[in-house]
Amino acid sequence: MQSYLRGRDMITTQEWTRDEIDTILDVALDLKRKRAVGEPHAYLRDKVLAMLFFFSSTRTRASFEAGMAQLGGHAQFMDSTTTQIGHGDTWKEIGEILGRYNDGIAIRQVDWGIGNDYIRAVAAASRVPVLNMQCDHYHPFQALADLLTIVEHKGDPKGLTVNVSYAYAASYQKPLSVPQSLILLLTRYGANVRLTRPPEFKLIPEIVDRAAENARAHHGSFEIVEDFDEGMRGADVVYAKSWGCMLTTTDHDESAKISEQYEDWITDERRIALADEDTIYMHPLPADRNVEVTDGVIDGPHSRVFDEAENRLHVQKAVMALTM
Ligand code: CP
Repeated sequence: MQSYLRGRDMITTQEWTRDEIDTILDVALDLKRKRAVGEPHAYLRDKVLAMLFFFSSTRTRASFEAGMAQLGGHAQFMDSTTTQIGHGDTWKEIGEILGRYNDGIAIRQVDWGIGNDYIRAVAAASRVPVLNMQCDHYHPFQALADLLTIVEHKGDPKGLTVNVSYAYAASYQKPLSVPQSLILLLTRYGANVRLTRPPEFKLIPEIVDRAAENARAHHGSFEIVEDFDEGMRGADVVYAKSWGCMLTTTDHDESAKISEQYEDWITDERRIALADEDTIYMHPLPADRNVEVTDGVIDGPHSRVFDEAENRLHVQKAVMALTM
């Protein structure tokens, strides 16, 4: 267990060691227990987290804000459209100035080709830790909550077959950050990670290569499958969600046309029956119900989506308590 992580940024879990991530999980479970029994845990009394959103959120905003209050501090909500960002406040002003007012800066900036660079630039200008609430490349707190959920429901991830799959959604080109964070993290825990996606929905090659390296180093496996049903077969964990085809095209109409070919990539009862009989179904939410996944699956006996959403709170509190 690591006892000094003060000041660390959380931009991607890949920059944290296994031992450090184990520490996050350990602290998260302790905080979860303390909340369950009503034991006060005001480790961040008088501390303030700035939360800067360039994109909408339900779970991320609500869980960071609740988490800071439960830790005895305060979370300051900032929406990029109601700041002076449009009038000249750059990453330098945000990092320098918010870093002087606050004890941590959390940012969601998912714009393709911009988000990760922006968060890293703020971190370089900031004297306090910067927490990535989702960028175009990574969603580290989602992946940490997912890992905790898998450990709680399936035990040690080593040897588990985890199907990280594309699913169809008509709503918009969702970031690649969730599948990329998952394949990076779960391969470090020795899981057999299966990335299932149509050919047009590739992930960033350097991240895929890194996931394969992680799998080799941690004696798991990593494979890519292009058939939706094949991806489901025998999986201990089914994690099927939509993402965009930004590496194929950034044109909205063209991407909509490509996506339409995969309208039948919906997690339904027949697909879940292809997985292991004790499989768990996961999704970070929001899900396009009856498009990405049927009501019967997301509300059914295999689904763990609400436990997964709850774990966002506990892992985020752990990282804030350790770093701020
Ligand atoms: N899973 C997730 O990040 O949810 P929100 O977009 O609602 O924050």
